[in-house]
Amino acid sequence: MTTPNDREHTHTLDSPSQNLPRPYLVEPADAWYHVYHWLKIATHVPGDLAECGAGEGHTAASILTALKEFGESGKQLHLFDRFDGVLEEVKERLAPFQNYEIHAGEFAETFRDFGTPLCFIFADSTFYESIAETIRLADKTLVTGGIIMFHDVGNRFCLGVDAAIQECLRQDRYYYLRIQKAPPDVDAGFGVGIKMR
Ligand SMILES: C[S@@+](CC[C@H](N)C(=O)[O-])C[C@H]1O[C@@H](n2cnc3c(N)ncnc32)[C@H](O)[C@@H]1O
Repeated sequence: MTTPNDREHTHTLDSPSQNLPRPYLVEPADAWYHVYHWLKIATHVPGDLAECGAGEGHTAASILTALKEFGESGKQLHLFDRFDGVLEEVKERLAPFQNYEIHAGEFAETFRDFGTPLCFIFADSTFYESIAETIRLADKTLVTGGIIMFHDVGNRFCLGVDAAIQECLRQDRYYYLRIQKAPPDVDAGFGVGIKMR
C-alpha cells in the first residue's frame, strides 16, 4: 500500500508578488506566498474557511486580507483555538474585518457540533492529536475540491504533524502534495490535501 509520502511532490514557487497583503505577512515572506496561492484556488469552491490553531490571529489577518482582495468577503473564516489569554489581542488584530467567527476551546469540543461546509482549512496546531482531529473535521466538512493545508510539514520539532498526515489522511479521499518552502534550505514546508470525494 502506498502512503501519502510515497507520491510526494515538491514545489518551489517564485518570490511573492508586490500585491500581497504586506502589513500581515507571515515570516518568512515565501511561506505566506504558498498559503495565498492555495487559498486563491480554494475560494473558487463553495463554502466557508477555517483556521485550526489560529493562535494570536496573524495568519487569520492575512487570510481575511486576501479574501477581501479576491472579492470574497461573503465567506466566513472560522477560527478554532483555545485562545488562552489572547482573545482580546486577536479581536484587536482582526478589528478591520467582520467576516470571521471565533470558536474558543479544545478542538474535541468545538469541532463536535460544527457542520458548516468548508472550502479551505489551514491546519496549524503542531501536535499529532490536534492535526488528527483537524483531518476528521475535514472528512466531515470539507467539500469536494476543497483544500486542507498543513503547516510545519517536515519540521523536525513537530514530528506529530507528519505522522498524523501519514496515518489519518485517507488517500482514497485526498490527493496529497508536499510543498517545500523557498529557499529549500528551510527545513519545513506545507502539505496540501485536495478533497477528491
Ligand atoms: C503554531 S500556533 C498557531 C499560530 C497561528 N496560526 C498564528 O498565525 O498566530 C498553534 C496553536 O494551536 C492551538 N492548539 C493546538 N492544539 C489544540 C487543540 N487541541 N485545541 C485547541 N487549540 C489547539 C494552540 O493553542 C496554538 O495557539
